[in-house]
Amino acid sequence: RPGFNAAARSAGKLYFGTATNNYQWNDTAYVAILDDLAMFGQLTPAKVMKWSYTEPERGVFTWEMGDQFVALAEQRGKLVRGHNCVWYNDLPAWVTNTTWTAPELAEVVQEHCFNIVRHWAGQMTRCAPVLTRICFSDSWDVINEPFNDDGTWRTTLWYNTLNTSYIPLALHAAHRADPHAKLYINEYNTTGPGPKASALKALVRALKAAGVPLHGVGVQAHEVVGQVPPLADVKRNLGEFAALGVEVAITELDVRFVGLPPDEEGLERQRRDFETVVRACREVEGCVGVTVWDWTDKYSWVPASFPGEGDACPFDVDLEPKPAYYGVLDGL
Ligand code: XIL
Repeated sequence: RPGFNAAARSAGKLYFGTATNNYQWNDTAYVAILDDLAMFGQLTPAKVMKWSYTEPERGVFTWEMGDQFVALAEQRGKLVRGHNCVWYNDLPAWVTNTTWTAPELAEVVQEHCFNIVRHWAGQMTRCAPVLTRICFSDSWDVINEPFNDDGTWRTTLWYNTLNTSYIPLALHAAHRADPHAKLYINEYNTTGPGPKASALKALVRALKAAGVPLHGVGVQAHEVVGQVPPLADVKRNLGEFAALGVEVAITELDVRFVGLPPDEEGLERQRRDFETVVRACREVEGCVGVTVWDWTDKYSWVPASFPGEGDACPFDVDLEPKPAYYGVLDGL
């Protein structure tokens, strides 16, 4: 069966990858496909590097799950994307239940970012395994989802206490921890042009102008079937990010149905939607790779987070390829 990563590599991209979870690795049929380097050359932990997993109590860092994740990728010759340092979600109670002063919270966010990026510094890099001929740097989603869909700042714990200063603080801390790592801001609903993409571009421009270490924009691409913008718009948008002097990655691609089950026409629409996003990355030089937010409907996060929605992945619950699988290949 033709593999996504082999096709992406032939197209000059660095990788094609997937999100996965340690919890899924006792499923041997799943692991057989996950392991295949021709299919996936990169892995993102959907959970285990997040704050509640890595610093459940202040200054108490728990690395076991993340280490296990990095070890699996290492054994299989795959890259790992660090995910993530600063998000409004998945925070432990000690962070959310305390009333912080700005100086205290600034300390907390820098400590967290510095420690998690330093722990895995250099370990998510890969040189010359079977399908790659060059060395890669570690990549980290340092800032995750800072904006609302209308382009205003999301009023999170971070923003409410530190305004936008948490963003350069976190990026500088990550850079000190691993000067070679590619540091990203990662955001959803930024696949096509619009207020949120514009806000993100303005932020990138401002951070670059201020000399803040920032190397990439992650376009999550959690899409809805039939609502993916036209190819020309996606290409223009990704190109505009790249023109700001950052690399671009599609970091969390899935295309969900809002009504289930899908009919044949819907599956065909989904195939074209996957193809559009993947092709846009292929055709924009600064787009380095694509990651799907799990490759099978069996483990997709969608049904739990959007009740009644789903079937968002290129393989079905039985791990069989859907039309969307061919859409991905066509886009590469
Ligand atoms: C999701 C995971 O897939 C779930 O397992 C978890 O319970 C919640 O988070 N945007 C992101 C990801 O940046 O971290 C989210 O992952 C999906 C949306």
